[in-house]
Amino acid sequence: TDLLRFPADFVWGASTAAYQIEGAAEEDGKGPSIWDTFVRRPGAVRDGHTGAVACDHYHRLDEDVALMRRLGLDAYRFSISWPRVLPAGAGRVEPRGLDFYDRLVDALLDAGIEPTPTLFHWDLPQALEDEGGWMVRDTAYRFGEYAAVVAERLGDRVRRWITLNEPFVHMSFGYGFGVHAPGRALMLDALPVAHHQLLGHGLAVAALRAGARPDAQVLIANNCSPVRLRADAASAADRLAADAYDALHNRLFNDPLLLGRYPDLSAYGLADPSWGGVVQDDDLKVIAAPLDGLGVNYYNPTWITAPADPAAGLPFDLAEPQEAYRRTAFDWPVVPDGLTELLVGLKAGYGDALPPVWITENGCSEPAGVDDRARIDYLAGHVGAVARAREQGVDVRGYFTWSLLDNFEWAEGYHQRFGLVEVDFETQTRTPRASFEWYRALIAAQRP
Ligand code: BGC
Repeated sequence: TDLLRFPADFVWGASTAAYQIEGAAEEDGKGPSIWDTFVRRPGAVRDGHTGAVACDHYHRLDEDVALMRRLGLDAYRFSISWPRVLPAGAGRVEPRGLDFYDRLVDALLDAGIEPTPTLFHWDLPQALEDEGGWMVRDTAYRFGEYAAVVAERLGDRVRRWITLNEPFVHMSFGYGFGVHAPGRALMLDALPVAHHQLLGHGLAVAALRAGARPDAQVLIANNCSPVRLRADAASAADRLAADAYDALHNRLFNDPLLLGRYPDLSAYGLADPSWGGVVQDDDLKVIAAPLDGLGVNYYNPTWITAPADPAAGLPFDLAEPQEAYRRTAFDWPVVPDGLTELLVGLKAGYGDALPPVWITENGCSEPAGVDDRARIDYLAGHVGAVARAREQGVDVRGYFTWSLLDNFEWAEGYHQRFGLVEVDFETQTRTPRASFEWYRALIAAQRP
């Protein structure tokens, strides 16, 4: 259809992350990450699943790149495991870890696929967590050093980099609620994790600009969620709660990057304006280094109401929509127009400060062994939502679906299946789904 016509240079991709697919958790000198530790905690992951083997991608790189070639991808977004490269997070470099990513980059380039590495997708070296993890400022400096090491090895060939994946989710799930690694339940005391990740991002941007090829682009991948109110809960108190949620989920991470300042969290009682001294002079200059693009990971909007018990801690409650949206296997509502709303809202809010946008993740979990129609509908709806945002003037340059393969879905283990390719975790057999064929045809139809 006309809706699915994009310019010839629009980039079609797929995304994965190291801990979710690689396996080989203790191979070739890799150090432990916080996820290797967290999965051993009783009750942390459904059915005690771990990423120790995952999709065994570490040993199946060629097979997986062949699948991507078949799919016709322009670009592949993967993440680099920090403790594979620096087993203790800093200091000694493990050359075998770098060799793996070197081979992956070359295999992708041979297949005509643009390698798009993310430097951090939540698998912090355990040795750094032992020193305080992202709660401490030093971790930001270690991240900048790690970025320099990777750029030195891959920087001659990689033309598009992503620093962090979803610093909001890592802060809130990992350090706020403790449902992801490192499993710390600090609630609002986890805010320094936002700042230290963003500072690490800024230091990594500088390291990449210094060590990568001059035409290299640097992005970050932020999880963004448009905030909505239920029609029956739209009082002034509800609106204030929605603003507070938007400040914490979206603006806390986009404003410093794009505007060089934090939203005033004190307006919602979330933090004092100086964050207790966590934000130091010139940090915001480092964080606001110009970006070549903003990566946006979108899954669904968030519905918010005023808190039932304002004394309980957070200045909002999460709510359910009134509308009977279709739900994914994860029970997430399917709301494609939320993506258009989000993108148009970013443009309206940031104006010329908004760099080109890339959808760096979008996809859904659906039950195994069905006809896959629901996944195709999800993807078609969201690709259409991107087209509508482009028509409204938002400069979206690419779309990466989550995910190429079924993989280790964090606290849900192997229960949620996000792949265009089904993975049998007993045999490691890969079977492309109907959505794989749909995406292949979509990409093929865009070719001149
Ligand atoms: C993360 C992915 C995850 C996906 C689905 C995103 O928040 O970046 O690692 O698998 O959502 O939950």
